[in-house]
Amino acid sequence: MNVLLIGSGGREHALAWKLAQSPRLDTLYVAPGNPGMAAHATRVALDPADHDAVVAFCGRHAIAFVVIGPEAPLVAGLADRLRAERIGVFGPNREAAQLEGSKGFTKDLCARAGIPTARYVRVASPDAARGALAGFTLPLVLKADGLAAGKGVIIATTPDEADTAIVTLMAEPGAELVIETFLTGEEASLFVLTDGTHLMPFGSAQDHKRVGEGDTGPNTGGMGAYSPAAVLTPELMQRALDEIVRPTIDTLRRDGMPYSGVLYAGLMLTDGGPMLIEYNCRFGDPETQVLMMRLEDDLLELMLATDAGTLGDHAPARFADEAALTVVMAASGYPGQVAPGAPIAGIEAAEATGARVFHAGTRLADDRLVASGGRVLNVTATGQSVAAAQTAAYRAVDRIDFPGGFCRRDIGWREVARG
Ligand code: AMP
Ligand code: GLY
Repeated sequence: MNVLLIGSGGREHALAWKLAQSPRLDTLYVAPGNPGMAAHATRVALDPADHDAVVAFCGRHAIAFVVIGPEAPLVAGLADRLRAERIGVFGPNREAAQLEGSKGFTKDLCARAGIPTARYVRVASPDAARGALAGFTLPLVLKADGLAAGKGVIIATTPDEADTAIVTLMAEPGAELVIETFLTGEEASLFVLTDGTHLMPFGSAQDHKRVGEGDTGPNTGGMGAYSPAAVLTPELMQRALDEIVRPTIDTLRRDGMPYSGVLYAGLMLTDGGPMLIEYNCRFGDPETQVLMMRLEDDLLELMLATDAGTLGDHAPARFADEAALTVVMAASGYPGQVAPGAPIAGIEAAEATGARVFHAGTRLADDRLVASGGRVLNVTATGQSVAAAQTAAYRAVDRIDFPGGFCRRDIGWREVARG
């Protein structure tokens, strides 16, 4: 079968690499992709926001299945349109994608279904927001309602910071906020495939969101990740599935918006048990890179079953016992302004160590590889433990020649410290 993958980052490179191993695949197309994916897929220039163009492309190239990597096309209803055209899709329809597209939608769903999450209020004006602050102690958390590419959450530790956050997050007319209590604990990510009824646990990971070592500095899209996240013990995983994921999926189905795709639950492991921080309606980036390194099953097969509603007929997904760890190499200045075009060399030397280098933000300039985004490369390795995978990943990082970039040297530190 011919498959079209939508996206261009490290997540999509990892998905392309894994999809390309499927015996069910004939040709894999990726729109727009990046130079790293050229080994696994045919790159095509298609704008995912142009649904007519995507449908027309599928017709011309006999595409039977489309895998949507990023959240924006899901929130914009690309999956709905493809399903209406009888083209298979991996990813939820627009209404179900509100789990990521609207924080307020998710919080209201949690309240109705009794799902453990931070206490919250929704507000639709700066005055209402200021008025609501009295109901919270500091620190408190302010979240823009819609998609914000990782920039929509502010943790305020003083009344002044809360005031500034309201101004910043409500600058656009019509902006809405969720204000919620600050949760303490360790964060972990849980992935689940679901066809709306059945659910299949799909691995765990821990991400490093802050730009600086020791988890300091501004938030980013993620500076590295490892899998599995041992803090999410089998008992905590089961509680998260029973108390958070299962009621979410059941509620959406009963509300007439069944969720089909991967559900990514960002959890806080509090003293009282796992609580939901947020949902994403797509795979994590860079969590996907470590999950794909460990996945032992045919990804395409599982995605097809997700769309067909037959996940219940499948044995649980199998992941290697070994750990995987990925280090993000970013362009200098990230997550602020970066100068594009910095040259990159040494990827073959890095891969010769046994690691895998996924491209996140690269392009070719006169046949030379250069940086084209904030997060540029995801240097990924496996090992018998997180510590061993960390050593292997940094051995490969050190073979890469990217003077215009930087990386954190401590990815996996919590797990390595636990021994
Ligand atoms: P989100 O975009 O919702 O994932 O939030 C980004 C980050 O903000 C999360 O990964 C957490 O580190 C932090 N965060 C969000 N909500 C809370 C909360 N209620 N309590 C503590 N930290 C939070
Ligand atoms: N790494 C965080 C995310 O994908 O949202």
